[in-house]
Amino acid sequence: MVPADSFREDVIEGLSQPQKALPPKYFYDAEGSRLFDRICRLPEYYPTRAELSLTRAHLADIARFVGRNSELIEYGSGASLKTRLLLGALRPAAYVPVDISQTALAGAARRLSREFGWLHIFAVVGDFSQPLRLPVFRQRAGRRRVVYFPGSTIGNLTLQEARAFLAMSRAQVGAGGAMLIGVDLKKDANLLHAAYNDARGVTGRFNLNLLRRVNRELGADFDLRRFRHYAFYNAGLGRIEMHLVSLARQSVRLGRHRFDFDPGETIHTENSCKYSVAEFRALAAEAGFRAAKVWQDARGRFALFGLVAD
Ligand SMILES: C[S@@+](CC[C@H](N)C(=O)[O-])C[C@H]1O[C@@H](n2cnc3c(N)ncnc32)[C@H](O)[C@@H]1O
Repeated sequence: MVPADSFREDVIEGLSQPQKALPPKYFYDAEGSRLFDRICRLPEYYPTRAELSLTRAHLADIARFVGRNSELIEYGSGASLKTRLLLGALRPAAYVPVDISQTALAGAARRLSREFGWLHIFAVVGDFSQPLRLPVFRQRAGRRRVVYFPGSTIGNLTLQEARAFLAMSRAQVGAGGAMLIGVDLKKDANLLHAAYNDARGVTGRFNLNLLRRVNRELGADFDLRRFRHYAFYNAGLGRIEMHLVSLARQSVRLGRHRFDFDPGETIHTENSCKYSVAEFRALAAEAGFRAAKVWQDARGRFALFGLVAD
């Protein structure tokens, strides 16, 4: 569970900025996680299929890179969809999925323990942007720690947050440890635009669900009919930006706070940064990771980096 106090503080702080904003980690209540799973199956949303296909195609090489008997820590594991492919090939000694969404995590842990009876699973509900206590294993000798971070969730972090996350992961795996990280690559803006503006409107519902959650959990009075999903590729900053546009002049109340909106004013809800292979290699190097392997799907849309902590 997200503590209600920090949720309230983050929302009030975000809506008080000149460019109103809400942190994307709050998308993932039970309904948000369900909608995200639907997004992953949309015809326009290529990242999930691209990452699954490159993982299947290079599974043996990925398994050689990681080695057997590792401690596999996955941040933002959600439905652990791609992990199902990896677990059989990697045979890790322990799997530690970490996610802010309790419902997604519990469902995934249940399914995985049925499918991989031999696997030790230690699910942790938590926020990876804060210091976290992960399980400590006694018999660690000879075990490599590996952080898995698929789904281009790194793209949802600002550059500063991404740097901090990579540095935290580097400290966690220690010298000789490794990281497997999925990164969405720069590409034709039309493909990107379609992926975040699907014809069925599921991404729009996912975006608006954030306001529904703020209403339900914090008692705000957002009128969902007066906000609309808006996503576009900001080429200068190399990122998809997702916003909620106010369709009218309106005020929203949250406790004793009042937030005024002009028609056309937006709440910035998410970035999805796209990297080139060279850009991401350089970012990882800043945190002390060497990109020993870069696997890509056949169409060069998505990359999985095999990073080594030297
Ligand atoms: C873009 S989805 C990716 C899900 C999955 N890894 C995949 O590849 O399809 C982001 C996932 O990270 C989780 N998440 C987002 N922000 C988080 C945070 N600050 N701490 C922990 N989990 C977070 C969400 O609940 C969601 O499951």
